[in-house]
Order: sequence, then C-alpha cells, then structure tokens
Amino acid sequence: MPERPGSGGPAAGDGPVEGARHVVLVGLMGVGKTTVGRRLAKELARPFADVDEQVELRAGRVIPEIFRHDGEEAFRRTEAEVLAELVARPLPLVLAAGGGVVARPENRRTLAGRTTVVWLRASVGFLAGRVDPTHRPLLAQADDPAEALGRLLAEREPLYAEVADHVVDVEPFHAADDKPKRALARHIAALAVPTTPAAPTPARAPASAGGATGTPGAGSAAVVDAGVIG
Ligand code: S3P
Repeated sequence: MPERPGSGGPAAGDGPVEGARHVVLVGLMGVGKTTVGRRLAKELARPFADVDEQVELRAGRVIPEIFRHDGEEAFRRTEAEVLAELVARPLPLVLAAGGGVVARPENRRTLAGRTTVVWLRASVGFLAGRVDPTHRPLLAQADDPAEALGRLLAEREPLYAEVADHVVDVEPFHAADDKPKRALARHIAALAVPTTPAAPTPARAPASAGGATGTPGAGSAAVVDAGVIG
C-alpha cells in the first residue's frame, strides 16, 4: 500500500506535537478498534476518542436507540460531524471510527486529511464469533448475523482499502500472542508513527508486516480520553 507523504509523525517519546497526523482505526464491527485504539493511545502517549461513543454522548442515547428513534441517516449525520470535528483538532489523537464510517464520501474525504488510517482486517468467521448483534443495529435484525457481516465486508472492503495507509490482519496476532491487543497496538504504533520503537510481529506475518521487530513501544503514559466535544 503506498504511503502518503508525511504519514508518520514525530517520535512517541517526543509527546504529541500540534499538527501531527491523527491515527484512525477503521474496520468492520468486532475487529477490536476501540480496545486496540485505547491501548495504542497509551503506546503513543496520545488522547483517545471513540467516534461511536462521542456520537452517543452528543445524541444522549446509545447507538441502538439512535437507530430506533432517529434512524440510521441521523446517526450517519452525527457520525460525520463528530469525525470532522475530531480530525480538526490540532493535537494528534488516536481515533476508533465506527465500522460504517467509510460509507459516506464526505468521511472518506475527511480521512484523506491529517490522518494516518489503519484498516484492521479480519475474516467474517473471526468477526462473527466476537460481535454481539444485540448492540449492533445493522446485525440485530438480520436472520443470519454472519451473512449480514459478510455482505457488509464485501460492500466496504474497497472503501477501507481506499482510505487505508496501512492494513493489519488481526487474526495472526490473536493466534500467536496471549496479549493480542497489546501486540497489535505496538505493531500499529511502529507502523503509523515510524519513529516509535518497533514491535515484534507474529510468525505468520500479517499483511502490513514491514520488518517491525525489536523492542516494545513507549507505552507508559495513561490513556487520556479526548473528552466530550461540541
Ligand atoms: C456500524 C458499526 C458500529 C456503529 C454502528 C454502525 C456499521 O461501530 O457505528 O452500529 O455500520 O458498521 P463498531 O464498528 O465500532 O461496532
């Protein structure tokens, strides 16, 4: 995957520098964007924000209720606003985006801005075993959630590929490591902010493995939530 110029940023040890790129995690539901994102923020000593969570705070309802009361379109509008506002922040963040963020062209344009986008990729079989359909309105009504996930993946794969600077296959990390989230976070930190000390990769190399070996990441600072916006 071609690198965008300047897609890296300053060393994690230098602390967040105004104007540096945000790291945005995209990928389908259940792939671990939020948990890996929190851990990644710790590795990079940056604030973390979860777009879904910010949408819920703004709407005053949880996502299934937003879909039920206001409809998907209203959810998507707020999601686009929240994403644009977070990306406009001067200090670099780690962001976990909702799985459907790539569906809107305006969000893809936002993601083409001051961001390094990492697509966390996994098979439908893997995702179906992890995702809880009751909290995912797009799966809750499906007779077969795995089939619905497969359809979403087929629709969105080209869109994730369009916005991504890096693709990371998560399954080898889960197969190889007893702390896969930590291993993924360290791997992504080294990819997305190349001056971060590199992390080991699983033996069965994921799609993005670009010689990331060596010592663990910076990771001592606490995760600071980016807070409520707007
Ligand atoms: C959605 C994914 C969800 C949430 C909403 C819609 C989607 O986020 O934004 O339920 O369209 O794939 P996660 O990917 O964090 O579950």
